[in-house]
Amino acid sequence: MRLFLDTADIDEIREINRWGVLSGVTTNPSLVAREGQDPDQVWKEILEEVPGDISLETTEPEADAMYEQGVGLSQKAPNAVVKVPMTPDGLAAGKRLIADDIRINVTLVFSPAQAILAAEVGAYIVSPFLGRLDDVGSDGVGVLRSICEIYAVQGYQTNVLAASLRHPMHIVEAAEAGADIATMPYDVFTKLVKHPLTDLGLAKFQADWNELERSLKGEA
Ligand code: E4P
Repeated sequence: MRLFLDTADIDEIREINRWGVLSGVTTNPSLVAREGQDPDQVWKEILEEVPGDISLETTEPEADAMYEQGVGLSQKAPNAVVKVPMTPDGLAAGKRLIADDIRINVTLVFSPAQAILAAEVGAYIVSPFLGRLDDVGSDGVGVLRSICEIYAVQGYQTNVLAASLRHPMHIVEAAEAGADIATMPYDVFTKLVKHPLTDLGLAKFQADWNELERSLKGEA
């Protein structure tokens, strides 16, 4: 399962990219707006920083304008993936983008039925939002499992990207379900690496090593 960051903050992206495990980035209009800068500049920096798939989201609601905007976004860099919403216009624009060999990510997906539509249109990525489903009392992981099962049974090639992940267990459950990609905010990504026993073990190793060095030098 590939790990993506869900952010438009270049400092967060640079920090996680340093670890060597970052395969891509997802952005959305809210995340880009949070940066308070020219979106083109924000996207440019991200596209240059991470060689993997970078999702850039359309904001035009109608199919023709969304298609034109999507073509423009795709031309920003070869690693750009165009996000379209799960709406009739999003599907129609997405279909045209795919016909132009542009990879699309169908976003704001909340049900297996919507995920079937994304696969049938030929999307490169489908993004079910787990956390937002949990927020309204639904079972986000259950929806993801169902989508992965349907895609396996049907032989759909669309990549399942588990989105709106709120804690490390969401990533573990997404991996168990068979998701191809998990995208998460910086604070969730940093939690993946942490375990108190790792910290305790490291402190003990360091103390024992220091003690050995001291005794070899003949120090008390
Ligand atoms: C995915 O591409 C979305 O940007 C994202 O995961 C939404 O997450 P949120 O529900 O935390 O806003």
